[in-house]
Amino acid sequence: MTSHVKAYRAAILHSIADPALVGDAQSYEYFEDGVLVVDNGQVAKIGHAKDLLPTLKGVDVIEYRDALITPGFIDTHIHYPQTGMIAAYGEQLLDWLNTYTFPTEKQFADPAHAADVAQIFLKELLRNGTTTALVFASVHKQSVDAFFEASQALNLRMIAGKVMMDRNAPDYLTDTAQSSYDDSKELIERWHGKARLHYAVTPRFAPTSTPEQLAAAGKLLAEYDDLYMHTHLSENVDEIAWVKSLFPEQKGYLDVYDHFQLLSERSMFAHGVHLCDEECQRLAETGSAVSHCPTSNLFLGSGLFNLKQAEQFKVNVGLGTDVGAGTSFSMLQTLNEAYKVQQLQRNKLSPFKSLFLATLGGAQALRLDDKIGSFAQGNDADFIVLDYHATPLLSYRLQQAKNLEEKLFVLMTIGDDRAVQETFAAGQSVHKR
Ligand code: GUN
Ligand code: ZN
Repeated sequence: MTSHVKAYRAAILHSIADPALVGDAQSYEYFEDGVLVVDNGQVAKIGHAKDLLPTLKGVDVIEYRDALITPGFIDTHIHYPQTGMIAAYGEQLLDWLNTYTFPTEKQFADPAHAADVAQIFLKELLRNGTTTALVFASVHKQSVDAFFEASQALNLRMIAGKVMMDRNAPDYLTDTAQSSYDDSKELIERWHGKARLHYAVTPRFAPTSTPEQLAAAGKLLAEYDDLYMHTHLSENVDEIAWVKSLFPEQKGYLDVYDHFQLLSERSMFAHGVHLCDEECQRLAETGSAVSHCPTSNLFLGSGLFNLKQAEQFKVNVGLGTDVGAGTSFSMLQTLNEAYKVQQLQRNKLSPFKSLFLATLGGAQALRLDDKIGSFAQGNDADFIVLDYHATPLLSYRLQQAKNLEEKLFVLMTIGDDRAVQETFAAGQSVHKR
């Protein structure tokens, strides 16, 4: 084989289906002593070392001892301009936005600041093993340019968009229905489909957009193929009451977005903490998805996401950190909190469902499962190496683990960025601890 082939030997694990549909045992593939073969940035094959090594004469085989290779994590909801305000004290959503968020996002009018934060943000994602994210930029179009430029330089698969926001926010941070349409269009033309980048039409949430602006968002989505729509939905009870007063002619929060044709297979709604059955039904029938953001929902006191309800209605669910309302870039720590959110509702979140949510489930929700989220042949070689000895406690605790399920659960409960030994994007190492 030629020199663009590389092989990685360790334990290998990936999701192949939703445990809610097939049961835990059928939801994954695992090779205790496995090899991942990468050809030209793509997954060529995975298998047992004893079967594959004899076929790899002359190929570089990189071995990781006491380590687990999984697909890179997929964070389906995060705000890059909020990196500098993570852990802002004391407020629930609406006051948190006014007190901390808007003044922080104001700084992204400056392209140099945006470029600096984009670097810090991407570095943090990669340190935590996240290789794809669906990202809010700020209202400034230069914030999107900065983010995509930095992502392209690392050849990452990233999705982002300019915030559309034309009311109920400070003047320094608002656009208009027309300017948001024009700026978004310019960015779509410049970035959508370039390298591994995708554009998301990004109205912040119903309260900060006029009906005219939501209509402009719908128009953009109708004009281009495969654009994403990314917004917030039913996160906080005061927010929901506000939406009711702003859009009295609509029955519920989701109906507002539905009215402007913002629901599709590429729509991602962050939070959905307080959804009724009819809303879940509508999300499912339009193929829309919800991002579960547990650390954010706890931190802002928003509520407990009902995963069972989402599963019952077959709503696609991804996992989001929602930094800066979320309190960690680590998808492992986000799963730790997700487990507790289900415990508080007397539900059990299994480690295999957690793995699914952080990888293949996110990819399916984003309609990218033919490219990322698993080690299916031909997928992008976006993967991570998790170190079983990352910390003394992790090392000691894992020695007691009797099986894969227990190991995985321990990793997801006490693991964090320290557990991520190396991160690869399209076959290239982009982070080494
Ligand atoms: N709703 C509207 N904007 C935001 C935001 O920036 N973060 C969160 N968590 N919710 C929002
Ligand atoms: Zn958010």
